[in-house]
Amino acid sequence: MAFYDIKSASNPQEKTTLEQKHVPLISVPAKVKQGEFFEVTVKMGEIDHPVEPGHFIQYVDLYANYYHLGRVGFTPEMKPEATLRVKLEESCTLRAYILCNLHGQWENAVDIIVE
Ligand SMILES: [Fe+2]
Repeated sequence: MAFYDIKSASNPQEKTTLEQKHVPLISVPAKVKQGEFFEVTVKMGEIDHPVEPGHFIQYVDLYANYYHLGRVGFTPEMKPEATLRVKLEESCTLRAYILCNLHGQWENAVDIIVE
């Protein structure tokens, strides 16, 4: 693994414990209406990530394809999950990138249909 790699689940059906703690889970409706707000929830992860001063999730970034929608920052006092209200103009891939202060950047993505 190169230093600048962004990590994801190598086999999404059989995640390692490290992957289960870091790969962001993105919850969205399968279909949404064009221009109408809907909720996107991102949490880390399948197994709760540690929340302590020496080890915590620092932020999550959300993208529509490669367009930056927003960022939520966390401190060691915050559970690393967030719900954002988003509107989209066309179908795209929603991507979440998170940063763990010890384990680096992780990503996940889901396709969303905009009608
Ligand atoms: Fe971590």
